[in-house]
Amino acid sequence: MRLENKVAIVTGATSGMGRATAYLFAKEGAKVVITGRNEERAKEVVDNIKADGGEAIYVLGDASNLEFCDEIVKKTIEAYGTVDILVNNAGMLSLSSVQAVTIEEWDKIFRVNVDSALKLCQLVAPIMKEKGKGVIVNVASVASYAAHHGFAPYISSKHAMAGLSKSMAWELGPEIRVNAIAPGLIHTAMVDGLGGPAALQGMIDNCPVKRCGVPEDIATVALFLATDDSSFIDGQIIKVDGGFEC
Ligand SMILES: NC(=O)c1ccc[n+]([C@@H]2O[C@H](COP(=O)([O-])OP(=O)(O)OC[C@H]3O[C@@H](n4cnc5c(N)ncnc54)[C@H](OP(=O)(O)O)[C@@H]3O)[C@@H](O)[C@H]2O)c1
Repeated sequence: MRLENKVAIVTGATSGMGRATAYLFAKEGAKVVITGRNEERAKEVVDNIKADGGEAIYVLGDASNLEFCDEIVKKTIEAYGTVDILVNNAGMLSLSSVQAVTIEEWDKIFRVNVDSALKLCQLVAPIMKEKGKGVIVNVASVASYAAHHGFAPYISSKHAMAGLSKSMAWELGPEIRVNAIAPGLIHTAMVDGLGGPAALQGMIDNCPVKRCGVPEDIATVALFLATDDSSFIDGQIIKVDGGFEC
């Protein structure tokens, strides 16, 4: 029970790696607040956690609307009185190129992938500072440290997430540790939207582990970063990518 008596917000936890992280945190004793837009999947995650003896609530909304962040923190405090851990995981993909992307799409990607993480941090930081302790884990990407043809708004947003994470570590420490995880190819709904792992075999071939990751590969690292086991790790972008292009 490495997270006993801890309250954790995990955004984008109705599927994929956020869901796996919510399940693992709850198993380790955390009270978990999960977010997303899909009520059916949100309810299923909360029901599963409760059936397993854990404690969780969901807060529904669209991360492109920053008022949703206020709602998440308000509901967290109402339900559990505090917040100890924030995992900024919610994210969306964009296949647009530099030439094709509209400013509207660019804005939406940044709202969901970066601005909502910033806003949530601004809201929880005073609570954590007052407690003298807190942990923030941001979900970045392999797209945070390299670019490829296409995906320009997504890649730019994930580069921003890396810079934001390091800035947060400097500005919110020493009470709050902030790290980011940079996942490689992880088999989730997002990857299925690109045709599934088979359509991305080239990425797998470029990993020494020669496999696609699973959401639990990320959840275990999020748990490590959320506990004192990682107390001397701060401001890092931790690659969890099977050695992609190492
Ligand atoms: N899969 C990969 O290979 C990979 C690699 C690197 C980084 N990542 C990053 O990992 C994170 C999790 O992605 P995933 O692969 O686990 O994808 P996923 O299974 O599609 O999960 C995405 C989660 O984000 C939520 N979400 C998306 N857009 C939202 C919005 N506008 N408002 C509120 N919630 C929203 C979704 O909830 P609803 O559907 O309920 O709205 C869902 O819970 C993302 O930040 C992604 O960029 C993924």
